[in-house]
Amino acid sequence: MSKYLHSNLNALARSSTLAINEHSDYLEKQGIHVYRFGFGQSPFPVPKKVVDSLKENSSRKNYLSVDGLPDLRTAVANYHQKIDNVNIQSDQVLIGPGSKELMFCLQLVLKGYTILPTPCWVSYAPQAKILNRKIIFIQTKYEDSWQLLPEQLTESIKNFSDKLKLLILTYPGNPHGCTYEVEVLKQLAKVCRKNKIIILSDEIYGRIHHQGKHTSIARYYPEGTIISSGLSKWCAAGGWRLGHFSFPKELKYLQDAMTSVASETYACVTTPIQYAATTAYEDDTIDDYLFHCRRILETIGQYCASSLIDAGIKVRIPKGAFYIFPDFKPFENVLNKKGIHDSNTLCKQLLQDTSVALLPGSAFAQNAKELNARLAYVNFDGAEALKKSIDLSKTSTLKMEYFGETVSEVIIGIEEIINWIKR
Ligand SMILES: Cc1ncc(COP(=O)(O)O)c(C=O)c1O
Repeated sequence: MSKYLHSNLNALARSSTLAINEHSDYLEKQGIHVYRFGFGQSPFPVPKKVVDSLKENSSRKNYLSVDGLPDLRTAVANYHQKIDNVNIQSDQVLIGPGSKELMFCLQLVLKGYTILPTPCWVSYAPQAKILNRKIIFIQTKYEDSWQLLPEQLTESIKNFSDKLKLLILTYPGNPHGCTYEVEVLKQLAKVCRKNKIIILSDEIYGRIHHQGKHTSIARYYPEGTIISSGLSKWCAAGGWRLGHFSFPKELKYLQDAMTSVASETYACVTTPIQYAATTAYEDDTIDDYLFHCRRILETIGQYCASSLIDAGIKVRIPKGAFYIFPDFKPFENVLNKKGIHDSNTLCKQLLQDTSVALLPGSAFAQNAKELNARLAYVNFDGAEALKKSIDLSKTSTLKMEYFGETVSEVIIGIEEIINWIKR
């Protein structure tokens, strides 16, 4: 590492999710077929109306306001009012080039500590490290379906009562697909209100809760919760780079500071994308699209998790998103005999022996010595799967067999993992 870099950047590597994608591309170029469970990208096509809207608006070339296109801000606010039951007005919405950038910006402007329940999404902690922020990690448990419990939060912050704190909650969760029970959200809201903790509620997977039953903690702690979401997951448009934050009026000072930073850095989000995003939020036919995406993800997620459970691997059935977080600890002895004692070696050896790509638990702030990994069940043809689901009546139960070849990569990949662990 160069002496010309800031010391906090010395250990910083390329984000592991992007790295696994690039490595899988590299292997495929060498002629090695990879079962790509590594990168968490939606397999579905962007809804046609949204793509058409992007085409129609592609000649728009002027900068937009740094806050975002007014119609889009209104559409996002209406969405929060209608679906989340939270009173957000358009002037409380900030549009950004992906929610990731907004999260970085928030951690940049706000003083104090970042509280991260782990396992957590790969980028929160590296962002905090880039900014020299102190992090309080709180380990959640498989037994609690990876929920942060209110008593854990109380206990973890007791020595930091004088510090301003930002708690980041992600639900449905990456890397495990679990989500919060409403009662737990209510209790967490109480602890945060009492301790003046600001919540960044990362709800990027909220619209792909498999049962369509996502509940935002902002309902129980509206004055202290910033809701984060965007087009990347539910609208399958990660590469379009559009995210948004919705701030309570009480945190206007934060919104203003972030907007100032935005005005001096990215200036505004790509203009045609903002028009297309407005269509995405205003279009009622999206509900139909989401119904099918959810039903497909639920079927495939349950298949993956229950196949691994039947084989003796420890994993929770996902409630949303497109991830599961298998723990291979029940096979510790077998793995140790293969020379595997940590999640990184586990994933490397699995990739080498079977061409199955997973992301090690260590990338999600888990102890590197654990034998867990994230599996993203997105390696199927989303367009084909959608067609098949649309052809099946909404009241019928979708089964894996119904997809045929469309999901063969998922099925073979899961079999490869099971055969490898039992070999
Ligand atoms: C939990 C979580 N939050 C945020 C993001 C970033 O999303 P965006 O594309 O809006 O930057 C991701 C992307 O993978 C994610 O998984």
